[in-house]
Amino acid sequence: MQPPPTPVPSPSSAPPPAPPPSAPVDPGPRPSDRVLMDWLWRGHVRQRLGFLLVAVVLMAIDGSMLGALSLMIEPLFDEVLVGGRGGLIGVVAAGIAGVFIIRGVTSLIHKTMIAWLSEKVMAELQQQLLAHLMRLDHGFFHRHPPGALIERVRGDSQAMGGLFTAVLPKLARDGISVVALLGAAIWIDWRWTLIALLGIPLLILPIMVLQRIVRRMGGDARISAADAATRLDEIFHGIFTIQRSGLERHEAGRFERVLSRFRKAQVRTVAGGAGMGSLADLVAAMGFALVLIYGGAQIAAGERTVGQFMAFFTAFALLIEPLRSLSALNGAWQTVLASLERVYGLLQIRPRIAQPTPPLAPLPTRSQTTVRFEGVEFAYDSEPVLRGFDLEARAGQTTALVGPSGAGKTTVFTLLTRLADPQAGRITIGGHDIARMDLRGLRDLFAVVAQDSALFDETLRDNVLMGATGVSDARLREVLDAAHVSEFAAQLREGLETRVGPRGSALSGGQRQRVAIARALLRDAPILLLDEATSALDARSESLVQEALDRLAEGRTTLVIAHRLTTVRRADKIVVMERGVAIEEGDHATLIARSGAYARLHALQFSGPEAGQPPPG
Ligand SMILES: Nc1ncnc2c1ncn2[C@@H]1O[C@H](COP(=O)(O)OP(=O)(O)OP(=O)(O)O)[C@@H](O)[C@H]1O
Ligand SMILES: [Mg+2]
Repeated sequence: MQPPPTPVPSPSSAPPPAPPPSAPVDPGPRPSDRVLMDWLWRGHVRQRLGFLLVAVVLMAIDGSMLGALSLMIEPLFDEVLVGGRGGLIGVVAAGIAGVFIIRGVTSLIHKTMIAWLSEKVMAELQQQLLAHLMRLDHGFFHRHPPGALIERVRGDSQAMGGLFTAVLPKLARDGISVVALLGAAIWIDWRWTLIALLGIPLLILPIMVLQRIVRRMGGDARISAADAATRLDEIFHGIFTIQRSGLERHEAGRFERVLSRFRKAQVRTVAGGAGMGSLADLVAAMGFALVLIYGGAQIAAGERTVGQFMAFFTAFALLIEPLRSLSALNGAWQTVLASLERVYGLLQIRPRIAQPTPPLAPLPTRSQTTVRFEGVEFAYDSEPVLRGFDLEARAGQTTALVGPSGAGKTTVFTLLTRLADPQAGRITIGGHDIARMDLRGLRDLFAVVAQDSALFDETLRDNVLMGATGVSDARLREVLDAAHVSEFAAQLREGLETRVGPRGSALSGGQRQRVAIARALLRDAPILLLDEATSALDARSESLVQEALDRLAEGRTTLVIAHRLTTVRRADKIVVMERGVAIEEGDHATLIARSGAYARLHALQFSGPEAGQPPPG
């Protein structure tokens, strides 16, 4: 009756857009089943062994009751129904009722216990996975789309719960049922039992074939489920682009194709499981027919009683159900193993950005925060993004990075904050390699206004505080005023307590940027990184917010990325980047005088005789 547990969809290896050959993320060889089980046992099961044993004992009692039931059929027929000893009927009835009561009570308890245990283990696994995934680097998240990761954390952990909800009950309850019923059948007549089971060897080969199909299809189903999750994730994130470009039908079509692959694999999985059950039925029917012929003759000859036959028949009929369930055991087991393997695989991926082993380099003090890039080489994929990049940003000064889109400016910040590590070269702060510094301590050195700062679906206040505690109201107000958040917060219905929607979608682009600036102002870190920090603001708020940022930058090591050159002309040093190298540097006046790349950029932006005036818009 039980098809193999519906494989909870989850990706095996999420379909990366372009897996970079240079950066193998997925861990080495496939771990053996033993390794997987050992890991699960040590990590999540061992601590609850007592609890588990109680549940297993209850399952065993539950399972053995069927054997008891079939044994009661013999006196029911021979003594009561055929033998006419009416007085016994109460005893037999009470016995049969007792069997069902015990079954009912034990199954209620063990099912509840197992539900509790499996939910507990699944929750633990999800937390463990999330904590682990959050430590992984840029490259990993570039290869694994969010939708697929969501599927893995949720789906694979849940599929592993099948170990407790499917595999264990099959083993303990159905296994014991089979043993008890077979015992009863042998007790009644071992020859009949032997005859009935003659067909079983016939089952072995077809079931092995079916199992392979089920496992492969189960894997396919999980991969396409991950694809489906990725599609949905991208559709909902890009919904407005889709609507504006009229891509609804196109996207629906892509989704349909993914779903149809999922459907096919899923149906085959279930059909394979059902096929195993049907085969078992066929063999049982054959066995039963043989017993009927042989035993019927014995009863007719008076060698056997009707009660014995009925008891045997009952045991045999009751045997079919748990046998079918057991035949699906391997399918359920394979499903659990497949998920276990993927979860284990994810956990084995070592974060490439890791806390260095001691001795650690000292963290710089405020006055030592000179930043240096020395011959830094970096590629996300195979295409180099930084190619022998050198930079010096002196402590306490403002250094600007300018250059065309795609030059690698944002990448400089990515490497400096160690979201990724360079493939060659060195990055130092205060003369010490950042790769040798305490990771948390290093990241605490920076206040960043990123090009695409993430807002979270929390209140405006929480989005500014970002977990900071002990911030006085006065200080918060000061920051909000300076970043011009107060201005629009006052117009929101619930002010600072307004929720900003998923990824800040209830705010305008400029408002989101002001929230990001407020965060940076609040952080009071020694190094300030501004990536197009005011690009989304209107001219008036830009000049006001810029003032606040200039004030913040005073006395801090500041790196500014800006396309609008007005923002950077007062910088102590301007570095012009092109295709991953610094091609020019100097202050505004020097670079203009040199008539090089910077001067050309400048001329483009401020074309006309009044070069040097702010651009029109
Ligand atoms: N996560 C990523 N995976 C792969 N390639 C990336 C990734 N991020 C950036 N790149 C590539 O690296 C190059 C430099 O990107 P970067 O974001 O540093 O440019 P930028 O100078 O900041 O440009 P912009 O001025 O448009 O912000 C680009 O060619 C881009 O395609
Ligand atoms: Mg950028």
